[in-house]
Amino acid sequence: MKEVRLKLGNSSYDIYIGAGLIVQIGQLLKKAGLDGKAVIITNPKVKSLYGDVIEQNLTGEGFKVIVLQIPEGEEQKSLEVAGSLYRELSTFYAERTTPIIALGGGVIGDLAGFVAATFLRGVPFIQIPTTLLAQVDSSIGGKVAVNYGRLKNKIGAFYQPRMVISDINILKTLTPEDLSDGLAEAIKYGVIWDKELFSFFESNIDRIKALDESLVEEVVFRSAKIKAEVVEKDERDFAIRNILNYGHTIGHGIEAVSEFKVQHGEAVAIGMIAAGKISHKMGILDKNELIRLESVIKQAGLPTKVPDLDAGKIIDAIKHDKKILKCKVRFILPKSIGSVFITEEVNLSLIREALID
Ligand SMILES: NC(=O)c1ccc[n+]([C@@H]2O[C@H](COP(=O)([O-])OP(=O)(O)OC[C@H]3O[C@@H](n4cnc5c(N)ncnc54)[C@H](O)[C@@H]3O)[C@@H](O)[C@H]2O)c1
Ligand SMILES: [Zn+2]
Repeated sequence: MKEVRLKLGNSSYDIYIGAGLIVQIGQLLKKAGLDGKAVIITNPKVKSLYGDVIEQNLTGEGFKVIVLQIPEGEEQKSLEVAGSLYRELSTFYAERTTPIIALGGGVIGDLAGFVAATFLRGVPFIQIPTTLLAQVDSSIGGKVAVNYGRLKNKIGAFYQPRMVISDINILKTLTPEDLSDGLAEAIKYGVIWDKELFSFFESNIDRIKALDESLVEEVVFRSAKIKAEVVEKDERDFAIRNILNYGHTIGHGIEAVSEFKVQHGEAVAIGMIAAGKISHKMGILDKNELIRLESVIKQAGLPTKVPDLDAGKIIDAIKHDKKILKCKVRFILPKSIGSVFITEEVNLSLIREALID
C-alpha cells in the first residue's frame, strides 16, 4: 500500500492506494477514530460488484451499516436527490459522528460529499473512488457539488474527506472507455507538473491500459501526489489550482456542443492538444513536444481531433463557460512538457485555427 498525506492543517488527510484495500476499510475507519453507525452511498452497479464485501467488512468491525443506492447518471447530482438522502439519513438516526462513505465514481463522490458537507452542518466523509477518474482526480481536494438546472457543479462546498481509499483492483471492472477517461486526467498531471510522469506514460501506456497492477498503482500514486500538492498550495482555487483546468477550457466547450455525447476525458484530451497547438502557434511549445503529447494521447485510446462539431459553436460555448474573466478567456497552456502558464491573451482566431487544424 502507498500513502499520500494531503496537508491542510486540521483538515489534513491520508490517501491510501493499493490492491485489495476494500477488505481493510473497517480497520482504516477505526484507526481514524470512527465507530458506531456508517452510511454507504453508492449505485446499483457498484453495489452489486463491491457493496457486499465492504458492508460485510464494516459489519465485521462492529459498524451498524446502511447502504443507500441512487440510480446511475450525472442527473442524480441534484438537490432533489440530496433531499431524499437527507430523509433516509434521518430515518437511520445518523448522527454528527456518523461517517458517510462515497462508494463509486465522481458522480457518487460529488453527491455524497455534498450531502456529508451539509447534513447536520457536516458529518465525516470517506471517499472510496471506484473509477480511475475518481481515484486520480475527483476524490481528492474537497470539491463537492450538485448541479442545478444549467449550473453544473455550481452548488457546492469545499469539504475535505477524512480519508480516501483507492483500491486498484476495483478498476478491473471498468469499461476501456471509462479507463481512458481517467487516463486523460492522469496524463494532464504529467503535462502540467511532472515531465517524468509524462515519460512514464510514454514507456508504459500499453501495460497501464492492460491494468498491470504495480504500474496502475504508480499512476494513481503519482497523480494523487500532484493533485494533493496543488490543493495544499491553493485549496479554494483562486490561483495555482487553476492549472488543473488544462485541457478543460476547450474540453468543456466540446462537451457542451456535443450535448455531452463526447465523454469528459475525450473532450479534455482534445482540449489538451488544442491548447498545445495554441502554445506552439504562439511560438512557445516546441513542435517535438506537441508530437509527443499527441502520441501519448492517441496511445491512451483517446481522440486527438475535434469530432464533427462546429468550431464557431465551440468558441461560443467557451465564451459562456466559467473561465471567462472580464470578457477574456483564461487558458492554461503548456510551456514545455511538465510546465504550464496561465494567460488571458489568446486570440479567438488562434483558438479557431487550433480547433480545425
Ligand atoms: N469534485 C471534483 O473535483 C471533480 C473532478 C472531476 C470530475 N468530477 C465529477 O465527476 C463526475 C464524473 O465521474 P466519473 O467519470 O467517475 O463518472 P461516474 O461516476 O458516472 O462513473 C462512470 C461509470 O462507471 C461506473 N462504475 C464506477 N465504478 C465502477 C467499477 N469499479 N467497475 C465498473 N463500473 C464502474 C458507474 O456506475 C458509471 O456508469 C462528474 O460529475 C464530474 O463533474 C468532480
Ligand atoms: Zn476533468
